Amino acid sequence: MRTDYGEVLREIADAVGKLEKSGEVAHYIPALAKVDPDQYAMFAEIPGKECHGVGAVDTVFSIQSISKAITLAMVIEKKGESLWERVGVEPSGNAFNSLFQLEREMGKPRNPFINAGAIVVADELLSLYDDAKGHLLQLARELAGDETIDYDVEVAKGEMATCHTNYSLAHFLKSHGNLRNRVEDVIELYCYQCSLTMSARTLARSFSFQCSDGVIPYSGRRFLTASQSKRLNSVMLTCGFYDQAGAFAYQVGLPGKSGVGGGIVAVVPGFMSVAVWSPRLNKYGNSVLGIESLERFTTKTNLAIF
Ligand code: DON
Repeated sequence: MRTDYGEVLREIADAVGKLEKSGEVAHYIPALAKVDPDQYAMFAEIPGKECHGVGAVDTVFSIQSISKAITLAMVIEKKGESLWERVGVEPSGNAFNSLFQLEREMGKPRNPFINAGAIVVADELLSLYDDAKGHLLQLARELAGDETIDYDVEVAKGEMATCHTNYSLAHFLKSHGNLRNRVEDVIELYCYQCSLTMSARTLARSFSFQCSDGVIPYSGRRFLTASQSKRLNSVMLTCGFYDQAGAFAYQVGLPGKSGVGGGIVAVVPGFMSVAVWSPRLNKYGNSVLGIESLERFTTKTNLAIF
C-alpha cells in the first residue's frame, strides 16, 4: 500500500509535541538566543513528485552548520579529492568546536563538518572564487529553487563579534600552514555561511540534489557527479552530527546534517529529503525533537538505508 507521508508527518508532530520539553536554544550566538524555542516544522520532498509538511514549514531559521554540507559540496565540485590533503574524513568523537584534537593532529582537522574542517573548506572557497559569499548565496538559491534565500546579517555580525573559539581554530590552522587566506576573511565567510536562512521547506528542497545523484532538480543542472554525491552523503552519515554521529546513524539510519539553529536535514538517497526544525538543542548542539522526529520517521516508513 502507498505510504501517506503527509499523515506520517502529522502523526510524528502530534506525538513529539506531547513529549516533555528538553534542551536549550543556542545562547552563545546573540541573535539565536532570542528565538522562540518551541517552534516546530517538518517537511519531506520527493523531488518532482510529492511534498508534505507539518507545522511552521515556511518560517525561516538560521541553518548554521548545515551550510557546511553545501560549502563542502562546492569544494568537492571544483577540487575533487585534493581537499582531503588538508582535511580528514573520519568522525571526530569530539565537540564541533574542539581545539585540543586539532592540536594533537598537527593542524589537520578530522573532518569537514567540525568547525576547524569547515574553516579550511571556507578558506578553499575564498581561494576558488573572487566572490565566494555571492557565489554561495547564488548556489543556495539554485539548490532550493527559491530566490528569497538570504544571509541574516544580524546573525553573521553577532557571531563574528563573539566567536573567539573559531578565531582560535583559524589562527591555529594558520600557524600550521593550513589556512591560505587572512583569518578575518575566512571567519567572515564562515559566519555568513552559517547565517544563511531557510525554512523547513527550502532546507529539504536544498538537499534534493543529494537524492538525485547530484543533479539539482529545480535547475536541471548536474552539480555533483553521482560518485561525489555518494561521498557527500557518506560524510554526512559518518560526521554530520559530531560526537553524536554514531547515535544518529544508529537511531535514524540516514545521512544528515544538523545546525545549532535547530535544523536538521536528512537524505534518503535516490528518493527523498526531509527537514525538521525545532530550536531546543541537546548537549551536542543537535536538535532534540529533530532527531526524535527523524527516528520516528524512519521507523514508521522503513526508509532508513539499512
Ligand atoms: O561556529 C559555530 O559555532 C556555529 N556558527 C555553527 C555551529 C553549529 O551549527 C554546530 N552544529 N550543530
